[in-house]
Amino acid sequence: MFCEDPSLIARFLRSAPKEGLTVSDREQLSALLPVRFDEPLAARTTLRVGGPAACFVEVDSVEMLKKMIAFCCTHEIPFFVLGGGSNVLIRDGGIRGVVMTLGKTFETHEILRESNDDVFVAAGAATSLAKLVRWSVEQGLQGFVNLAGIPGVIGGNLRMNAGTREGAIGDVTEEVTLVDRDLKEVTLTKRRLSFEYRKFQLSRSAVITKGLFRLKRASSDAEREKLKELLAKRRETQPLTAKSCGCAFKNPPKGTSAGQLIEETGLMGVRVGGARVSDIHANFIINEGNATARDVEVLLHLIRDRVQQQTGVVLEPEVIIIGEERA
Ligand code: EPU
Repeated sequence: MFCEDPSLIARFLRSAPKEGLTVSDREQLSALLPVRFDEPLAARTTLRVGGPAACFVEVDSVEMLKKMIAFCCTHEIPFFVLGGGSNVLIRDGGIRGVVMTLGKTFETHEILRESNDDVFVAAGAATSLAKLVRWSVEQGLQGFVNLAGIPGVIGGNLRMNAGTREGAIGDVTEEVTLVDRDLKEVTLTKRRLSFEYRKFQLSRSAVITKGLFRLKRASSDAEREKLKELLAKRRETQPLTAKSCGCAFKNPPKGTSAGQLIEETGLMGVRVGGARVSDIHANFIINEGNATARDVEVLLHLIRDRVQQQTGVVLEPEVIIIGEERA
């Protein structure tokens, strides 16, 4: 096994049903909520690879969410919340448990209050970060523009403290609201939030439902200009239109760029099946159209091994790998 997120996998493996859901599980799930079985997931990820979810449900209220978590816990069925699918690699055999996605009800954003030059913006977990960045710029709000070019939705962005060299979402986060394992919706305030580089300390069984962000009043012209500049730079240095999961590895602690290390080991353009190391930014793995999750995973292994052999640096994956190998 390669780079599974250990806490996430603990939740999966503890009870991952070997043969998938039982007939009785399926019947009870159908009676509980409008679920779908054997739902393809590849199109729900930016890499566009991977197998189906044994059970898939779009959750449209906190009550539905609690119902589903309660059912999964009682029946020992592992569950996973899929956000924008921009940082996951789902294996070709798919996911044996329940995959939930938060629906339209969680796609909200509004200015909640203002004090002096602070503006507090609340956003639901299913809100697209790119949309929020554009909206904040139009409103003349400063704080989100540093996140320009990051895909995904607020829940996933918070979960992994998504960011760029200019800043991360944790820098502007005041509160995170989630449904915890006791099925309570709780709000954690800033002093209880621990963000690190691409990491947010949070129990894996918690499901984020919204965030509160502290922005500042600024000139919308200046913000618009900054957004233009950052997006142009991103387009020039990253393969933004290709099917990928963004940066595959975290940058190593000592300030070097994983992309630079991968390029220096001569891996740019290297292919495994339909997966290829980008020629624009070597920390991006591209699905050329017909890649399997296996191709991507093998390429990740190859990169990590080669970089370790040649430089001694052990790269830590940023992409979360879940699911089963194809039987
Ligand atoms: N570089 C190379 N070869 C490459 C890629 C980069 O030599 O293939 C060099 C660049 O020329 C530059 C340096 O490495 O001198 C840093 O490159 P870049 O500015 O692209 O930043 P990065 O560290 O590679 C980080 C984030 C990106 C984020 C950019 C821009 C990580 C793992 N990556 O990349 O985030 O967009 O900064 O702010 O932290 C992501 O997390 O998915 C992601 C794309």
